[in-house]
Amino acid sequence: MVDFVVFLKNVLVVSLAMNIGLIWKISYNNEETLSSKWSSWGNLQQKLHFHAFGCNGDRREEEEAQISKNTQLLSTTSSASASAPAPPEIPDGGESVVINLDHGDPTMYESFWKQKGKEITVVTSGWQHISYFSDVKNVCWFLEPQLVSAIRRLHKVVGNAITEGRHIVVGTGSSQLYQAALYALSPPNAPQPMNVVSAAPFYSSYPLMTDYLKSGLHKWAGDANEFNKEEPYIELVTSPNNPDGFTKQAVVKGDKGILIHDLAYYWPQYTPIILPADYDIMLFTVSKSTGHAGTRIGWALVKDREVAKKMTTFIEINTIGVSKDSQIRAAKILQAVSDSCDHANQKEAAESFFDYSYKHMEERWKKLREAVNKTQLFSLPSFSMETCCFSGRTFGQLPAFAWLKCEGGEVGDCESFLRKHKIYTRGGKHFGASSEYTRISMLSRDSEFKLFTERLPAIVS
Ligand SMILES: Cc1ncc(COP(=O)(O)O)c(C=O)c1O
Repeated sequence: MVDFVVFLKNVLVVSLAMNIGLIWKISYNNEETLSSKWSSWGNLQQKLHFHAFGCNGDRREEEEAQISKNTQLLSTTSSASASAPAPPEIPDGGESVVINLDHGDPTMYESFWKQKGKEITVVTSGWQHISYFSDVKNVCWFLEPQLVSAIRRLHKVVGNAITEGRHIVVGTGSSQLYQAALYALSPPNAPQPMNVVSAAPFYSSYPLMTDYLKSGLHKWAGDANEFNKEEPYIELVTSPNNPDGFTKQAVVKGDKGILIHDLAYYWPQYTPIILPADYDIMLFTVSKSTGHAGTRIGWALVKDREVAKKMTTFIEINTIGVSKDSQIRAAKILQAVSDSCDHANQKEAAESFFDYSYKHMEERWKKLREAVNKTQLFSLPSFSMETCCFSGRTFGQLPAFAWLKCEGGEVGDCESFLRKHKIYTRGGKHFGASSEYTRISMLSRDSEFKLFTERLPAIVS
């Protein structure tokens, strides 16, 4: 009997050892596969980053590592919830931290959405959103009806665009809609590709998105102010403009042009709303209106049915529609914004999204102007005051980007100058403008913005 117990013990020990070995092997292999997956994804990301934004390809590896370390540091600092442990202290008061304000990543809205909690949580069951189709009777057959109502309602509440008599086309971000519009507006059998222009300084992605496929349909033809060919053209009007924040109108005087209005920033936290926009093709996106860039939802308001149909065809060929999960989430968010505006006048109602975002932007611009005024090295554009029909407030533009100028001529390239001080921005040449200018995102998290406004006035050379 004793022998049998000893034997049983031995069997147990051996089997335990084998199991531990097996578990270790599985997890080791998984780690290996995962880490190699991550590293190749990292490489891909780096390549895409280089091609899509074209301005950080020269970034050294150690700088990348530093940024990633800082990003972790800064995001831990800013996204700490009430119950989370105290954020780590920033070493040497932040001097060694790289401040990356190159992209317009709208993380500044994160804290507003965090406090909304369950109100905007979307739960999706496994059986839902399976079909490719959303509404086969609609020109844009993959557009979710809930999103249609949410878009029409929000534009009505804000008063920033006319939706009556417009077709809505949904896209994977307004970036896809921009390409869909180029496809729809460029004749397929023209002897030459259609010219695409925009007044400098223009959004740095336009030339890349227009030409990256070397399409025979259209080609980037540069600054609209200099376009004087007697040829058909598409003019992009971004208003308020990225990068300089000004309100824009079409500038080409020719009669052979078609306009696309990119109204990504025509929202009351960035600019006084003067009139409901009433153009043939208007592009909007949740990326900049509510800050949900990762949801990748944009929409186009299109007057002409045939153009809307062709844009839909482009998206059909390109991605066979647009994620329903994202559309439902975007609809929920837009409805929540409209609700917050509707309730804003009620007693004890929570602050509306646009009140919150306006106050936040106003405060940031105040801080930035104070920082810039402490030095002789930089200047910022100034904007005239207008009264916003939505909020009743009178204010000048509060752009999502600061178009900073390095003054005095000695500095030369403003982007490189700030980079020496570990502030990453996007230089003027990417926008068809002088390198004396650089574009700075105003949409980062509070902690990063604070560091930036502390570091800027301390720069002397
Ligand atoms: C003027 C303008 N249009 C379009 C976009 C792209 O928006 P989305 O994220 O919807 O593709 C941006 C993003 O920065 C932008 O600044």
